[in-house]
Amino acid sequence: MQQSELYVRYARLADAAAISAITAEYALQGIMLERSGENIVENIRNFFVAESNGEVIGCCAIAFYTLRLAEIRSLAVFNHYKMKGIGRLLVEKAESVLREEGVSEVFVLTLNSKFFRHLGYREIQKEYFPQKIWRDCTHCPKLMACDEIAMVKAL
Ligand SMILES: CC(C)(COP(=O)(O)OP(=O)(O)OC[C@H]1O[C@@H](n2cnc3c(N)ncnc32)[C@H](O)[C@@H]1OP(=O)(O)O)[C@@H](O)C(=O)NCCC(=O)NCCS
Repeated sequence: MQQSELYVRYARLADAAAISAITAEYALQGIMLERSGENIVENIRNFFVAESNGEVIGCCAIAFYTLRLAEIRSLAVFNHYKMKGIGRLLVEKAESVLREEGVSEVFVLTLNSKFFRHLGYREIQKEYFPQKIWRDCTHCPKLMACDEIAMVKAL
């Protein structure tokens, strides 16, 4: 893949189906939480996509919690395009937008701690983030058996 053909940009409404397809693949495997098409459309302004030759091949989203704290979520790269630096580009784009907004701390809930460690995140107790628990986790089927690792990075 030529680097010049690949870029990360804000998602547009027309990308919702592609985002849904990318994330649904991993939700089926239990690697990430499922997001309905409706939920993706409602939150489309918070998404970024990686595009290569006109095809959306990866995505991630940001969620604000306080003026200083935000989350990167729904990060996924199509299987065929993994390990080519696309996940890193998506996270770096999200981090740079969060920095511009004055956010000083970003966290993730993930099963892939190795990837995020590569990007400078460190593990932390989930209880550090009570807002997160109350906003999303109460509706999660994994609430009583959560296997995701909380990780944080100072921006
Ligand atoms: C996690 C994911 C987005 C990573 O995307 P990617 O494009 O494959 O990752 P990159 O190529 O940008 O990797 C960046 C660095 O992390 C490392 N890395 C990536 N995946 C890794 C893994 N599973 N284990 C260890 N290291 C990993 C790469 O080697 C690379 O290191 P380098 O910069 O020293 O070369 C992708 O594997 C994915 O879609 N996984 C399924 C969904 C998921 O788990 N999402 C996270 C939920 S929050």
